[in-house]
Amino acid sequence: MTPLAHVIRQHIKGTGPMSVADYMGLCLGHPEYGYYITRDPFGKAGDFITAPEISQMFGELIGLWFAQAWIDRGSPKECHLIECGPGRGTLMSDILRATKMAPGFQKSLHIHLVETSSTLRQSQKQTLGGYSAEWHDDLNSLPPPSPDSPHFFIANEFFDALPIHQLLKTDLGWRERVIIWDDESKGFAWSLNARKTNLDAMLSEMIIKEAETGSIAEVSPISITLAEIMADHIARSNGVGLFIDYGYAQSATGDSFQALKDHEFCDCLDHCGEADLTAHVDFQAIANAFNRIGCESLPLLEQGLFLQRMGIEARAAQLSANGNDKQKQDISSALKRLTDNEEMGSLFKMLAIRAADGAPLAGFEAG
Ligand SMILES: C[S@@+](CC[C@H](N)C(=O)[O-])C[C@H]1O[C@@H](n2cnc3c(N)ncnc32)[C@H](O)[C@@H]1O
Repeated sequence: MTPLAHVIRQHIKGTGPMSVADYMGLCLGHPEYGYYITRDPFGKAGDFITAPEISQMFGELIGLWFAQAWIDRGSPKECHLIECGPGRGTLMSDILRATKMAPGFQKSLHIHLVETSSTLRQSQKQTLGGYSAEWHDDLNSLPPPSPDSPHFFIANEFFDALPIHQLLKTDLGWRERVIIWDDESKGFAWSLNARKTNLDAMLSEMIIKEAETGSIAEVSPISITLAEIMADHIARSNGVGLFIDYGYAQSATGDSFQALKDHEFCDCLDHCGEADLTAHVDFQAIANAFNRIGCESLPLLEQGLFLQRMGIEARAAQLSANGNDKQKQDISSALKRLTDNEEMGSLFKMLAIRAADGAPLAGFEAG
């Protein structure tokens, strides 16, 4: 049993069954034993790999997207670029390197990184050594939005790491799934909250109308709260946002809570604090939150299509031209991994947000 499993078992014994959201929050963010607190989980030696860690091309093209958004908003003298959940800092570093060429953009930038893990903050500080940046524990310490200095948000695989609640449709209505300690099997087990909660008020109309008994649905109040805070910054500063993740284009039922360790799926209730826990992002719920608070969400774009529209093939050819055989092969396999529909190309989706009536956004249909 891991040290964190002991802590959670004591917690359950003391206060009763635990929601999936509390369990996920503790497993990922417990101040001593949380997954993101005790390790750098990225890459071959870790548990999973993210797009910025696959190739510099990903961050470079996102950098060009932001530079274009800045130009289209009149090249303001000051601009806040805010990354949520920056991992090793690779995406921000690639954005900044690629936009050195955009005259005036870098000079206007104030860089902000919103990160809860002190361990990952250290990696980010190393990666971004040459730049001045400000770190934040949460969105509350960001500078207040002002119409003269847009707030630009970027987050890759951030929402999928935020806690979810799970609900099961029973004959008596929606009941929350909870985690208990089972003395017989000496492990954690699933159960249902005996009391009704108000969480089902967050379900989409379609799920409420159509879900059958036995269906599982997921809601993430913290994701909605954070989207609403970002929306307020974007709406009041003529800002933009780009959010990349895997998940549902339209709210849907299903159990998407999953655990990954050493690049393999494992049971979510085992390896507390030693496996990555994620859930599919409900893009519809997040887009609705932005739209409610003075922003416009553009139709979701698949990652592969976005990168193609931003010129990933030309960039890959340019990088290959200067590379040796091994580098050429690496670039070609990274290109495939990021854009191919069998790989990350259509699984990962990009949600672009702008202030209502804001200028166009490169690559997105409705721009
Ligand atoms: C899956 S990683 C993605 C890292 C990076 N964006 C990438 O693509 O490589 C999730 C990141 O979000 C951070 N994180 C998780 N919950 C957070 C929260 N509530 N506030 C800020 N950062 C958080 C983690 O520490 C980690 O840096």
